[in-house]
This record gives sequence, C-alpha cells and structure tokens, in this order.
Amino acid sequence: MTKSELLSSSTDNESLTTARYPVICIDGPSGAGKGTVAWRLAQSLGYQLLDSGALYRIVGLKAFEAGLLTANSEEVIDEAALLKLTQSLNISFELNDDSGRVDIIVNGERVGEQVRNETVGGYASRVAVFAEVRQSLLELQQNMAKYCGLVADGRDMGTVVFPDAEVKVFLTASAEARAERRVNQLEKSGQAADYQAILQTIKARDERDENRSTAPSKPASDALVLDSSALGADVVYEQIKSYCQQQGICF
Ligand code: DC
Repeated sequence: MTKSELLSSSTDNESLTTARYPVICIDGPSGAGKGTVAWRLAQSLGYQLLDSGALYRIVGLKAFEAGLLTANSEEVIDEAALLKLTQSLNISFELNDDSGRVDIIVNGERVGEQVRNETVGGYASRVAVFAEVRQSLLELQQNMAKYCGLVADGRDMGTVVFPDAEVKVFLTASAEARAERRVNQLEKSGQAADYQAILQTIKARDERDENRSTAPSKPASDALVLDSSALGADVVYEQIKSYCQQQGICF
C-alpha cells in the first residue's frame, strides 16, 4: 500500500490530517465468528487488526482490579475514577501468528489470555456503557487507520468509529448457535461447560450491548448483515472476502 492510495480527495490541511487507509469493519455479537474472519482478512491483505473488544476488556479488567467493579453487582463504584483509569492506559496491539490473535500491550506489559474469558467479557460490557469511556478510546481506534489498511472488529466500528469505511459487515448468529460453539471450544480445551449457563450469559451481554444509549451494537444502515448460525468459518470468510472485492478491496 502506498501513500498515494490514501483516501484523500482534496489537499487542504484538514483532510491531510484526517486522511486514512482503507477500513473493513466487522461488527456483531461475541461468538458470531468476527475474530476469525477479521484475522484472516488482515493476514491476507497485510492490514492491521483492531480488536476493539480487547480495549473494553482491558478497561473492565483494570477497573475490577482497582475495585471499581464488583463481581456480584451491576454497579460501577466511581465513574470519575473509571474515566481517569481509562485515560491512564497506554494500549497497543501486535499480531501474534502463533495464537492467531492480537497480543495486547498495556503500559508496556503484554496482557495474558485471562482478558479473553467470559467474566472479563462481562466487565467489558459493563464499562462499555459509559459515553466518556468510549470517547476516550475513540482516537486510539481511529489512529490505527492512519498508517496502514485496517480490519476493525467490534460493535460500533461501522456506526461510530469508521462511519465512512469502505466495507461494513455485521456478522451475527443466534444466541443458541453461539452458546453451542462456546461449549465445543471449552470442551475441546478440556474444560467443563454448562450450555444453559453460557446461553444466559450470552443473552445478558447481548441485551446490555444492544440497548445501551451510547453506540449500541447494531448494523450500520449500509452494512452487509450475515447470519453465520448455520455456516462454517470457511464459508463465512469466502462470502465476506467476495463482498470486500465487490466494494473495491483488492486481495
Ligand atoms: O468482542 P468482545 O467480546 O471482546 O467485546 C467485549 C465487550 O466489549 C462487549 O460485550 C461490548 C464491548 N465492546 C463495545 O462496547 N464496543 C466495541 N467496539 C467492542 C466491544
């Protein structure tokens, strides 16, 4: 990708500062397969990958460690302190070819896999309802498209963070299909899994993410909506790849 491919239709100073490379948004609920397809697209295009859920997971985990969230109550103890904590975090990502995910580096330290568990997913969803928290993570996300093409995985990539993205996909699946996938994943890694408990947790998180007042999880009006409930990962990837090609992305 060369600088001349940057999307800037004019040469005034403002558009130069806001110029960016192509962006592919993959939004949708947890477990719909966004992470896998986003990773494969980023790998084959040589794009950066923004795992925006990881940003909210880090904030949720740090808020829990700081005593701003408790395991048993929905309440956030001190919103001003939560915002201060969010602003104090210096977060970056590195593609990790071995794990097929991005490594997250926070204030110079690599964060372990604990950030990926369902408990931390719940903390993330709870801190993500705060408009100020979202606002303070906005620039970091938008800056990631300034130096390289970007695949952005999240809930509000196409609606809020990159409203003029070249490609917007909303990848969804029924809560039941997502719960089944999670059970299979856990069982494969030798862990016990309770389908009903997982289903309830998924539904509760969907409900919060879809109904918050700021940047609720929903398809952008110009997004391709794809239901992966009955589709394998390869079919999902091929369908999204071909949609990207239709929208002018060259593989
Ligand atoms: O995609 P994930 O499961 O890692 O996301 C964890 C939570 O973070 C999700 O339940 C809601 C929140 N989130 C968000 O509000 N906006 C995003 N762009 C990404 C995630």
